[in-house]
Amino acid sequence: MTAALGAAVAGWGMALPARTVSNFELAERVDTSDEWISDRTGIRERRVAGDGETTASLAIEAGAAAIKCADLSPAQIGCCIVATCTPEQPLPATAAFVQDALGTRGGAFDLDAACAGFVYSLVVGASMVAGGVVESALIIGSETITRLVDFDDRSTCVLFGDGAGAVVLTTAETKSGLQPGLVAWDLGCDGSAAPLLGVLAGGSRRPIDAEALRVGAHRISMEGQEVYRRAVRALVDSTSLTLAKAGVTAAEVALFVPHQANVRIIEAAASRLGIPMDRVMVNIDRYGNTSAASVPIALAEAADAGRIESGDLVLMSGFGAGMAWATALVRWGR
Ligand code: ACO
Repeated sequence: MTAALGAAVAGWGMALPARTVSNFELAERVDTSDEWISDRTGIRERRVAGDGETTASLAIEAGAAAIKCADLSPAQIGCCIVATCTPEQPLPATAAFVQDALGTRGGAFDLDAACAGFVYSLVVGASMVAGGVVESALIIGSETITRLVDFDDRSTCVLFGDGAGAVVLTTAETKSGLQPGLVAWDLGCDGSAAPLLGVLAGGSRRPIDAEALRVGAHRISMEGQEVYRRAVRALVDSTSLTLAKAGVTAAEVALFVPHQANVRIIEAAASRLGIPMDRVMVNIDRYGNTSAASVPIALAEAADAGRIESGDLVLMSGFGAGMAWATALVRWGR
């Protein structure tokens, strides 16, 4: 087979806010309980960003760790993509702050596909590396989604947490199907479902004004049950399509790293895909739903724990507001 360029995961890292908020602490504020939250979602605690902890500061910490893990210097990074739906500020992009702090070269931009944002960015970054546009790319998922949460709304405040995860992609020469890199992917969006989950105020359609603040339109609102139903379907359909494109079976997947929104969503999808839970990465109990940060945090924890070996097939999948979804099948190895 002729050699071609691939994009391999050369390093990874993560960052978390210092403060842990347990279900018990939330139950002191809203009418909920540790039992309800852990039974319905699998979440026991989450991290919440405090003063001075922001989407950029978490992204910088995770990005620096990933670059170090890849044994590269920031000047060797040719592109920085920050997946986030909770940016540092409306303008400029969070990636500008990250670029300045780390000293990466080339382009730096944000990508917003909500909870699917990291996997979207992974596919974009891998395409740039595999296409020879850059030799290496830093892909970060970073969120401070608790800043958008109404902590008096029990239907949403128990679900979310903050954090960041990152990977460095570098050029890998692909000579056979066993070389490291992005093997197959699926990106999708059904914008007709946009009203199911979002923040209504703070953008062009509805700037934040006194009325928006009064009714809480600057906070997250969600039709939980319908999002749940569609999330399971998106996860199963998108991962199945990706595996079919790659010509591999679920049995060949060494580790499934799904978006951590609800452990019941993860278990339902894994069961339908025929992937046993001992090959599924789950850390929602400690971090809740960290949106675009959830897949790279789970990936970094799995890699640090030695759950992924060179040559393994790792299946990552995210879904969220939009509704947008994204799946990437990666052959692990530097
Ligand atoms: N504590 C106690 N009771 C609660 C709580 C709570 N925190 N929240 C809701 N309830 C109550 C409801 O009021 C309802 O009471 P009622 O029967 O008296 O009306 C009851 O519990 C059941 O509510 P449901 O909404 O049916 O509960 P469900 O089992 O569906 O769980 C949940 C709700 C956890 C939100 C679930 O629907 C879910 O996980 N949805 C998907 C969320 C998701 O995946 N989001 C991903 C995208 S996020 C992004 O992209 C930014």
